[in-house]
Amino acid sequence: MSTIMNPPAYKAAQEKARALLSSMTLTEKIGQLSQFGTSIYSDSDKLPDAHYSEGEVGSYLTIKGAQVTNAIQRDLLTATRLPIPALFADDVIHGYRTTFPTPLAQSCSWNPELTRRCNEIAAKEAYRAGLKWTFAPMVDIARDPRWGRIMEGYGEDTHLCSRFSEAAVRGFQGDGETVGKDRLYACMKHFIAYGACIGGRDYNSADLSPQTLHDVYLPPFQAGIDAGAATVMAAFEDVNGVPATGNRYLLTDILRGKLGFNGFVVSDYGSVTDMIPHGFAEDTKDAVRLAFEAGCDMLMAGPAYNEHLPALIKEGKITMEQVDHSVLSVLTLKYLCGLMDEPLVDETGEDCFFCAEHMDAARRAACETAVLLENNGILPLCTERLKGKRIALIGPLAGEEGKTHLLGNWACLKDPNRTVSIEEGLARALGASCELVTAYGCGIRCENTAEAHEKESSSVKQAAEIAARCDAIIAVVGEEAEMAGEAYSRSDLTLSGHQGEPIDALIATGKPVILLVAAGRPLILTPYKDRVAALMLIWQPGSSAGDAVADLLTGAVSPSGHLTTSFPVCTGQVPIYYNHASTGKPALGKWQFESKYQDCQIAPLYPFGYGLSYTSFAFEDIRLSSDKMTAEGEITVTLSVRNTGNTDGAAVVQLYIRDLVGSTVRPVKELKAFEKVFVRAGEAQAVTLHLSARALAFHDAAMNEIVEPGKCKLWVGECCTDERHEFDFEII
Ligand code: NOJ
Repeated sequence: MSTIMNPPAYKAAQEKARALLSSMTLTEKIGQLSQFGTSIYSDSDKLPDAHYSEGEVGSYLTIKGAQVTNAIQRDLLTATRLPIPALFADDVIHGYRTTFPTPLAQSCSWNPELTRRCNEIAAKEAYRAGLKWTFAPMVDIARDPRWGRIMEGYGEDTHLCSRFSEAAVRGFQGDGETVGKDRLYACMKHFIAYGACIGGRDYNSADLSPQTLHDVYLPPFQAGIDAGAATVMAAFEDVNGVPATGNRYLLTDILRGKLGFNGFVVSDYGSVTDMIPHGFAEDTKDAVRLAFEAGCDMLMAGPAYNEHLPALIKEGKITMEQVDHSVLSVLTLKYLCGLMDEPLVDETGEDCFFCAEHMDAARRAACETAVLLENNGILPLCTERLKGKRIALIGPLAGEEGKTHLLGNWACLKDPNRTVSIEEGLARALGASCELVTAYGCGIRCENTAEAHEKESSSVKQAAEIAARCDAIIAVVGEEAEMAGEAYSRSDLTLSGHQGEPIDALIATGKPVILLVAAGRPLILTPYKDRVAALMLIWQPGSSAGDAVADLLTGAVSPSGHLTTSFPVCTGQVPIYYNHASTGKPALGKWQFESKYQDCQIAPLYPFGYGLSYTSFAFEDIRLSSDKMTAEGEITVTLSVRNTGNTDGAAVVQLYIRDLVGSTVRPVKELKAFEKVFVRAGEAQAVTLHLSARALAFHDAAMNEIVEPGKCKLWVGECCTDERHEFDFEII
C-alpha cells in the first residue's frame, strides 16, 4: 500500500519501539503523546523546560533553528530517565526559509512535480534546522474564497487536489522506505471537511452530505495516505454535528478503516479543549476522553493529556492497550527517521538557506504559478522597444514594503530581506535602457478615519500624475500576507482599502495599464477586467517574486498557470465551483424559472482551468482508444498538442467528463485527467491521458460506492468551459 508505512524498515522500527515501550512508565508513555511549544494563540502554555524532566514531552512545535532544537534535545536527553529525543514540528507549508509560492498558487501550475520539488527543498532546509515533521500538506477542498485558508490548499477540485496531495507528501518524505536526512514526515490536514466551513468563516461548522464527504473531501487524503503520509491532523470544526477531533467515526472508522491509514493522528492546536465551547465536552478531562477514544493519538499543544489520561485509565475509560497503540505509532516514527540514533543535527547545515539553487527553484515555481487573465497584446514587454521609455510602477506591493506580503502567510521562517521585490526584479531585467518610476498609490488597507482617507486620495492623485508622464503603467494590487490564512476570512472579496481608486486614476491617464494581482485568494476583478491592457495574477510568489515577475513580463517565460479556483464576478456568487450538481432548471436563458440570480450572471468571471499564454495551442488528432469501457476498464485518450504561435510555452491539457444520467444527480462536469506539456513554437508533442472507469465511481443514495453503467460526455480542452473537442463514451 503505502511507501514507508508497511515495508520491512517500518516493521523493524516497530520492533525497536515495542521493546522501548515495554520499559516505559505511564508518565513517559503519555509524554510521547503530548506536544508543547511556543503558543501563537495564548501565552498560557507552560514552556518546555518546566516540563520534561520525567519525560512528559514527546514533541515540540514552532521552535526555530538547529542551535535551539539541539539545545533542547541535549537537555531532554540528559534530564530524562529514558533518553527519547523529541520530534520537532512546524508549519513548513510553502518553504522553510526560501519561500515558494503559496500552495494555492502552486496548484495553478498544474504541475504536481513542481510541488514535489518545492517541498523537497523545504524539507531539506527545515531538516537542517532540526525539524523532522511538518504540518503539511493541507489538502482541504476549498469552494469558498471567503475562507482565508484557501491559500494553503490546492483549490476546488478533488482530482487535481489528489494529484498535488500525493506529490506534496512525496516531496516532504521522499520515495524511500525511511524518511531520513533532509526529509520531513508529512501531516495531511485537516481531517476533515475543514474547507466546508459554513459561510467561509474559519472554525465554523461543516454540514455536508455523506456523499459529498466521501466523493469530494476524502480522495485527496486517500491519495496522500497511499503516497505514504505518516501523520494526519484532526480538524477544528464539527462535521455534521460532531467535532472532528472527537469524531470516532471519522478518525477511526473512516481514516483508519476505510482509507487504510496506519500512522498517528495529532489534534489541531487546542482542538481538544475546543470541544468544551463546542458544547460537546463537559470539561478538559471529558474532552481528552472524547479525543483519545476517537483516535486522536497526540495532543497539540499543552498538558491536557499528561494531566487527564492517567485518571481516565484508572477509571477504566481509556485502556492501557489504547495508550500503548498510540505510543507505539509515535515511537516507531522516531526510530524510522533515524531520530533515536542521531537526535542532533549538524549546525552548519543551515548554509543551504536561500542558496542559488533554492532561489532559482523558487523563481521557476513563481513563473509557473502565475496566471495571465487578460492581455491585449501589450505583453510580453519587448525590452528592445522599451529603450528610452519610462515605465511607472505603482503600489506598495511593488517595493520594499511589499516584500513581506509577496511571501504570503504561513511562510515559516520567511525573510523579507532575502526577497526580491518586484521593483528590484524589474530594474534588473530592464536595465538602464528604460526608466522605472515608482509611486505608492495607496495602501492595501486603510484606517477608517477622515485623515487616512484624505491621505490616500492625495497619494493616489500623485501616483496618477507620475504615471501620466510615463509610457506604460504596471500597478500591483492585492492582499497583505495577513489577509489570507488561518482566521483571515473575508466577507467582501473586492479589493480592500482604496485600491480601486488608483486603478481608475491610472486607467484615466489613457496609458496602458498592466495590472498585477498579488493575493492569497481569488478576489473580485470584475471592474478592471476589460479596462486594463493586461491582467496577471501573481499570487504570493515567494522569495524570488521580483525576478519571476520580470521573467513573465518580459517574456523570458511564457505564463502557463491555469486557475484551480473559480474567480467570482461578485462575492454574492460564492460558494462557486465548476463541478456543481446539475439542477433541474439550469440557467439556459430560456424562461423565468431557472437557477440563476436576477442581478448577476451565474458563470464566474474566470472559470476553473482558465489561463492565457503568450502563445496558442491546437489540440489535434484526438482519439479515444474505445467509446466503451467496463466498470473495471480504461479508455486512453491520445492527442497531439501543437504550439501554433511564435513563442515557446506550456499547455495544460484538461480532460473533463459528464455522467449524463445517474442514480444520484451528477456534477455538470468533472476533471478526470490532465497533463502539462511544454511545446516549442511551431512544434507538436504527443500526450496520452488515461481515464479509468473507477475514476467515475461515486456513492449512491445508500452510500454504496458504485461505477454505474451509462452514457457520458468527454471533453479535452484548455479550461472547464472549453467544449471544442467533445466525445461520447459509455460505461457498459
Ligand atoms: C492551527 C492550524 O489550524 C494548523 O494548521 C497548524 O498546523 C497549527 N495551528 C500549528 O501551527
